[in-house]
Amino acid sequence: MEFSQRIVIETSKAEWLPSPSGTVFRKPLERAAPETGHATSIVRYEAGASFQSHSHPMGEEIFVMEGVFSDETGDYPAGTYIRNPPGSAHSPFSKEGCTLFVKLHQFHPEDLSKIIINTNDPQGWRPGHGGLRVYPLHSFHTEGTALVWWPANEKFLPHRHYGGEEILILSGVFQDEYGEYPKGTWLRSPHLSVHHPYVSEETLILVKTGHLSTEY
Ligand SMILES: [Fe+2]
Ligand SMILES: [Fe+2]
Repeated sequence: MEFSQRIVIETSKAEWLPSPSGTVFRKPLERAAPETGHATSIVRYEAGASFQSHSHPMGEEIFVMEGVFSDETGDYPAGTYIRNPPGSAHSPFSKEGCTLFVKLHQFHPEDLSKIIINTNDPQGWRPGHGGLRVYPLHSFHTEGTALVWWPANEKFLPHRHYGGEEILILSGVFQDEYGEYPKGTWLRSPHLSVHHPYVSEETLILVKTGHLSTEY
């Protein structure tokens, strides 16, 4: 929870920890306090798993990494981006099992829009810098969230992160001058940090920017 620090977690090497549901497991990445408040985690539902009905007083953001995630509003396959706004509630489950990236209790209090985007729909991709392709998912005030697809051997410009940057590598290997980050790595870079990213192989990342310096 020390947002001035750069953090790299290779989540594929982290251990699954139990949750209040015996069929749902988590790898905590950042957490203010157990079961309440700000938390970012990788979450796994076993086939047939369900989680107790719960509310999200400060919102819940989900990216479905594998499998199919469900709640009473529908079934969401891998590649779905979901924002459940402050005050929302649901009873989630998964028939076949799923792996999720979940950010809980981190919404701006005025960010009340419900968003569900299936990024398997190719229409959402936009051209980015060089050979990059960008799939915009959400923006509010300074905060932005997108998928970014890198072709093999692509290099981006050196840049500074106003409001920080958070990256989850969904496939391939992301690189910068500080290291190599294989699929499953979670990277959090503080406000005003600098790097020069590139890739050797085709790589897909989930990127959030501009959300790490504002106190609500
Ligand atoms: Fe939830
Ligand atoms: Fe960056």
